[in-house]
Amino acid sequence: MTTTDTTYPLQFELTPTPAARADAEREAMLADPGFGKYFTDHMVQIEWTVDEGWHDAAVVPYGPLSLDPAASVFHYAQEIFEGIKAYRHADGSVWTFRPDANGHRLQRSAERLALPKLAVEDFVESLKQLVAVDEKWVPSADETSLYLRPFMIATESFLGVRAAHRVGYYVIASPAGAYFTGGVAPVSIWLSTTYSRAGKGGTGAAKTGGNYAASLLPQEEAYQHGCSQVLFLNSTDGAYIEELGGMNVVLVYRDGTIVTPDSDSILEGITRDSILQLAEDRGHRVERRRVSIDEWRDGVASGDIVEVFACGTAAVVVPIAELKGDGVSIVSPVAGPDSLTLSLRAELTDIQYGRRPDRHGWLTRLDA
Ligand code: PLP
Ligand code: COI
Repeated sequence: MTTTDTTYPLQFELTPTPAARADAEREAMLADPGFGKYFTDHMVQIEWTVDEGWHDAAVVPYGPLSLDPAASVFHYAQEIFEGIKAYRHADGSVWTFRPDANGHRLQRSAERLALPKLAVEDFVESLKQLVAVDEKWVPSADETSLYLRPFMIATESFLGVRAAHRVGYYVIASPAGAYFTGGVAPVSIWLSTTYSRAGKGGTGAAKTGGNYAASLLPQEEAYQHGCSQVLFLNSTDGAYIEELGGMNVVLVYRDGTIVTPDSDSILEGITRDSILQLAEDRGHRVERRRVSIDEWRDGVASGDIVEVFACGTAAVVVPIAELKGDGVSIVSPVAGPDSLTLSLRAELTDIQYGRRPDRHGWLTRLDA
């Protein structure tokens, strides 16, 4: 096994970029960031080799990586990533949300992809280091953030099929507005009955590029049908709901019970976990269990299911208006301003942006 748990805090060396964007250029990007279009002036990189473990931690100018064409990530997709945001508070300080949870998830993904584990404290430090130098890139307009994308790739030049002996970890950052162009407007979802995202014993619970590669063709189908995301069912019999291409799914019942799929082939979303905690705090019953597509259809038809929403770091919380597929149309009630969906979304974002007390200790300051 090639996994290594570093026990020392890494020291980062900074090489400032000679080509930082001018204030006016950066401000123009921050004024209309979209999602994943622009990147900040610097990035983090850390090397790992089987002999030396993690070393050479650095913050360097943002720019292309130079990799040998035989680097195994290109051939065998030994890759994992994370997604986490930095939020600007009203007093100008910059915070992130539950970074330990992302750090632990990166370790679980590393384990499944036979990549080395980065210590959680080094993961959190890597975010702090990047935000310290690119702090001006954290936007301050409502609902904007700096999206941080840590990732780890197999960089060894070797075509034999085994876990790489050389690995790189990087963090890049991109100012972000709403993931969906409609903001919190309800979205339509395409139900894929042809393709699975992940199989039993596969990599579905890991945040690895291959899962997203598998989602791209059905995602194109979704766009062709006017839908913004694709919903996957379990691969064995297609009877149970798994998750969307890049978000988890939650159903709200009339009696206040909140239900979300439990499966070992979906990503354990940190947004979902936080939303469910907030709902539990309010006295809602929360059930993590198998949810069939029939339960969704019948529940909406009978009026027992009153809201359905998707959630994830990039998209936050978005109501689902309709689930469409071959011969399928399940139209959920519209989540109005008083809906549980929007009220939980507001509570979560209020905590993230420092507008409400952080009673669970979820925030970590990044710029100090
Ligand atoms: N499921 C998938 C496939 C995702 O890509 C994401 C986004 O990261 C999620 C769920 C939600 O996870 P989180 O809330 O931790 O961002
Ligand atoms: C995230 O929410 O961080 C993701 O990785 C999902 C992706 C669709 C952007």
